[in-house]
Amino acid sequence: MTFLQNLDWRHATKSFDTKTKVSDTDLAKLKEAIIMTPTSFGLEPFHVKIITDQAVKDEIQPISWNQPQVGTCSHLLVFCARTDWENRIHDYFEIASGGNADIKEKMKGYEEMMQGALGARTEEQILDWATRQAYIAHGFALAACAELKIDSCPMEGFDSAALDKILDLPENFKSVVMLPIGYRTEEPHHGKVRFPESDLFS
Ligand SMILES: Cc1cc2nc3c(=O)[nH]c(=O)nc-3n(C[C@H](O)[C@H](O)[C@H](O)COP(=O)(O)O)c2cc1C
Repeated sequence: MTFLQNLDWRHATKSFDTKTKVSDTDLAKLKEAIIMTPTSFGLEPFHVKIITDQAVKDEIQPISWNQPQVGTCSHLLVFCARTDWENRIHDYFEIASGGNADIKEKMKGYEEMMQGALGARTEEQILDWATRQAYIAHGFALAACAELKIDSCPMEGFDSAALDKILDLPENFKSVVMLPIGYRTEEPHHGKVRFPESDLFS
């Protein structure tokens, strides 16, 4: 199947087959797609919690408008925006330089440019920025699922503050969007509803 055929195949799956689990091999590929996501400055200011524990999924479903995707999925991916941008910049240059002090020194200008650009933003703007990056990763995960013939449902319908508490997230993580994944129990009831090309492009 081509990329476009895979996108046509996928749909926002409302309920998953509880008996069929996503394999570790496919999960590794999905993680790789998320890792390969391009992000602003390459800082990947997000973290993905992967939940398989049924008791935790059952706790999350009621704070997600009781949507059955949550309780029935094989794995529940929770995309969190990270706001600890200073740590992120530090760690980025550790990785990029391979810990080599000379290489790090040569990259100093770029590091200072990043610090200046992000340091000028308010906390709210940093959260907005990190959230946008998390959504790009979420989009890549959606497309990768389609390629791997894993069903998924993008989900914003949940109480983010309540979820942060359930997951005991640190102060610098905020859940922003979820992706339950697994295998469909039935085919979608209707075809895709999309605005016409003329509406979306000019
Ligand atoms: C960011 C985002 C949040 C969404 N939240 C939910 C949700 O909470 N529950 C749900 O059933 N579908 C949710 N959807 C699915 C959309 O309704 C669905 O993608 C859209 O209607 C197009 O249908 P399709 O994905 O089957 O092509 C969400 C989609 C996106 C992209």
